[in-house]
Amino acid sequence: MTTASAPGKIILFGEHAVVYGRPAIAVPVRHVRATAEVQPLEAQPRGVIRIESHQIDLSGWMDALDPNHPIRRIVELTLLEVGASDFPALSVDIRSTIPVAGGLGSGAAVSVAVARALSQQLGKPLPNERVNALAFEIEKIHHGNPSGIDNTVVTYDCPVYFRRGQPVGSFPVGKPLTLLVGDTGLSASTATAVEGVRVRWERDRQTFEAIFDSIGVTVDRAREAIVRGENQRLGPLMDHNQELLEAMGVSAPELRRLVWAAREAGARGAKLSGAGGGGNMLALVDETSVDAVAVALRAAGAVSVFPTVVS
Ligand code: PMV
Repeated sequence: MTTASAPGKIILFGEHAVVYGRPAIAVPVRHVRATAEVQPLEAQPRGVIRIESHQIDLSGWMDALDPNHPIRRIVELTLLEVGASDFPALSVDIRSTIPVAGGLGSGAAVSVAVARALSQQLGKPLPNERVNALAFEIEKIHHGNPSGIDNTVVTYDCPVYFRRGQPVGSFPVGKPLTLLVGDTGLSASTATAVEGVRVRWERDRQTFEAIFDSIGVTVDRAREAIVRGENQRLGPLMDHNQELLEAMGVSAPELRRLVWAAREAGARGAKLSGAGGGGNMLALVDETSVDAVAVALRAAGAVSVFPTVVS
């Protein structure tokens, strides 16, 4: 039997603009994970695969799934990648504690965990670079036009400075950052949000390109502050990034409510994270504010609040 897993992720800075070639920063969130367990299935014909995915109540033979089902596709792409044509019947059992459609990278983490566990079970473990490339193909099914940031941070499991089409850049974290992640409880489609931005960008390219440029500058300042351990500089940068996301039209009243509640309770900065429209937001806190901000987020409607440390 082979088991592999991958963490969730949050985007600290730069979502949406990253689709248009600007940089973004994302970090793994390790207390939520997707895990895949692959093992031989007794008394079944060679080459058949049974898939269980508990979080989405999926249980059945792979061939019976829609040909575009993301789990079927990652299994098939992995088989192709390792050149497996004749193998004993297998079961692929997927468990994930990463909320679906919340901007925490659940789809990417499932793809990465499955590609790793299956390739290992078949005796040809794939290097990160290939796992990342396969997971990116599946992100296209999930998101239409993904930048590739989700699969990258989830595969490499470290803070990444990401720019479409460029080699993955990591960076040192000068001083640990504590963030609270607050969930609006609204599931939101990344594909819809990304498409909405595209439509608005088509209508007014000049304004949107200026917003994306401004986000790019914010991302670079944030990276510099993180590397230098100048965490106090990050709060205003998060607030500024949030304003630009508001201007892009990807926020939502529920997100705004949590962002404002966090700031009023003493967070140094707060913003939505991921595609927006629902999903999660982030608040930058320290030891003195963490409890009050968590209480305020719950009072403002967050259905879950958890801390994560970037180090
Ligand atoms: O999957 P999410 O909700 O974290 O959003 C992905 C981030 C976007 O920039 C909105 C899209 C992308 O592919 O980069």
